Amino acid sequence: MGKKIDGKEISMQIKQECKERVARENLDVTLAVIQVGNDPASTVYVGNKKKACEYIGIHSLSYELPEQTTQQELLELVRKLNRDEKVQGILVQLPLPGHMDEDEVIQTIDPKKDVDGFHPQSVGALSIGQPGFVSCTPAGIIQLLKRSGVAMDGKECVIVGRSNIVGKPMAMLMLRENATVTVCHSHTKDLKEVTKRADILIVAIGKPKFITREYVKEGAVVIDVGIHRNEDNKLCGDVDYNDVEPIASAITPVPGGVGPMTIAMLMNNCVEAKGIQEA
Ligand code: GUN
Repeated sequence: MGKKIDGKEISMQIKQECKERVARENLDVTLAVIQVGNDPASTVYVGNKKKACEYIGIHSLSYELPEQTTQQELLELVRKLNRDEKVQGILVQLPLPGHMDEDEVIQTIDPKKDVDGFHPQSVGALSIGQPGFVSCTPAGIIQLLKRSGVAMDGKECVIVGRSNIVGKPMAMLMLRENATVTVCHSHTKDLKEVTKRADILIVAIGKPKFITREYVKEGAVVIDVGIHRNEDNKLCGDVDYNDVEPIASAITPVPGGVGPMTIAMLMNNCVEAKGIQEA
């Protein structure tokens, strides 16, 4: 039976460590959080980020802009926050309304304040092993594995999904841990054959319960990044947990696996911000 990897517990440990560091080093950190429009899921995420800041002792500034905000107005706000020495981190909640250009907004954030790790400079720094912010979800997965005692060095790691936010940075982080990395996507031929090679299988495809035991090698570690609501309004992941759990050596549940790690790593990035700014 697969050992459950408890993301709730591990994310609490990380938040606790951040809180202790803020107190011990008397850190004065401010995160600016921008939300445009009122997408309900974004409102929940932004609320959770602000609550986490409060718990840890990070100041948060909240900018709730109307749906019809123009690209120029948003860019102006980002530039103002870039110049503000009291602000260490800037987070623009995605997705932005359809009339906005997300790439331009991300590229306007000062890479030294890019606590989401989405700026091309942050992504480039990660890929060549230079200091910079790392995207929170993949950074959280590395912590889940390390803190659960899963060795990565020399292991076969297969990542399903090649998004800029998860799949690609995940591949870079796994390389940094000396894993042998394969990235699969919608054009991969014979996906099952590839995923069955994995010692560590990381799934971020956005299809509920897509990965069943036919995709998984006996004894593999399975990390599920997906989050969906099923027919009964219950949360489920990209992995069919009940089907895969008996043959996995360790597996993340949904909810309570990868999800809580994203905010914990955002808090960690905020706490690290001054160090990265001085690097
Ligand atoms: N929307 C969904 N996840 C994220 C995230 O990690 N950061 C931002 N900025 N927006 C998101």
